[in-house]
Amino acid sequence: MILILLGAPGVGKGTQGVLISKEYNIPQISTGDILRKEVKEQTELGKKAKAYMDKGELVPDDIIIDMMEKRIKQEDCKNGFILDGFPRTTAQAKAFDEMLQKNGLNLDKVLLIDVPEEEIISRLTGRRVCESCGAVYHIKYNPPKEDGVCDKCGGKLIQRDDDKEEVVRNRLEVYKKSTMPLIYYYKNSGKLVVVDGMGEIEEIFERVKEVLK
Ligand code: AP5
Repeated sequence: MILILLGAPGVGKGTQGVLISKEYNIPQISTGDILRKEVKEQTELGKKAKAYMDKGELVPDDIIIDMMEKRIKQEDCKNGFILDGFPRTTAQAKAFDEMLQKNGLNLDKVLLIDVPEEEIISRLTGRRVCESCGAVYHIKYNPPKEDGVCDKCGGKLIQRDDDKEEVVRNRLEVYKKSTMPLIYYYKNSGKLVVVDGMGEIEEIFERVKEVLK
C-alpha cells in the first residue's frame, strides 16, 4: 500500500501515520522527521534545511526530491509506505509520479485530513515532542503520564522551534500557497479522500481504517 497523508501543519498527519504504520506494518516516512534528524546531526543537508525550517518556509524542492528518491528505494519500503509531509508542492508531486513510474509502483490513496485553522493553532502551540525518540504529545489533548517526560522512553519533552505561534501562522500561509494546489492535483487523479480530523485520535483512526478497507 502506498499512501500520502495530506493536510495543513498540525492536522494530525504524524499522529495518524504512526497508527496506520502499526496497523498495516509499513513504514511511515516523515520528511519533517528526516530533516530534523539531519539538523540535529549538523549534516550539510541539515545546515541548509535549518534556515528554511526555522522560518516555517519550505526546504527547496531539489533537496527534498533527492532525499525522497533515496528513501523509498530502501528495503523497508518494499511492501509499501506512508508519506507524511511529502509531496508538498506541485513540482514534488510531479517528481513523485515519475519515481513511482520508474519503479513500477502505484499510488493507492491520498488522505486529506481536514481541521479548522483555530484548532490547528491550539494543537501546534500545545504540542510537545520527545527529544530522544520523537514521540508526539499534546499538553491538553494527549498528555504524557508524567509532565515533561516521554511515556515510551523516559526522554525529555520539548517544544519544536517552529511551533511558536508566529511561525505556525507563516507555516499555514505557506501551506495555502504551495501545498493546497495538490488537493486539486490529486482530486483530478481520483485518489483523494477527505477525512474529518476533528474528534478523538482513536475516532479519527477508525475513519481512516474505514477508508482504507
Ligand atoms: P513537518 O514536520 O512535516 O511539519 P507539518 O506538516 O507542518 O506537520 P506537523 O508535524 O506540524 O503536523 P502533523 O499534521 O504531523 O500533526 P501531529 O500529528 O504532530 O515539516 C516541518 C518543516 O520541515 C516544514 O515547515 C518545512 O520547512 C520542512 N519540510 C518538511 N517536508 C517538506 C517538504 N516536502 N518540502 C519542503 N519542506 C519540507 O499533531 C499536532 C498536535 O496535535 C500534536 O500535539 C498531537 O498530539 C495533537 N493531536 C493530533 N491529533 C489530535 C486530535 N484528534 N485531537 C487533539 N489533538 C490532536
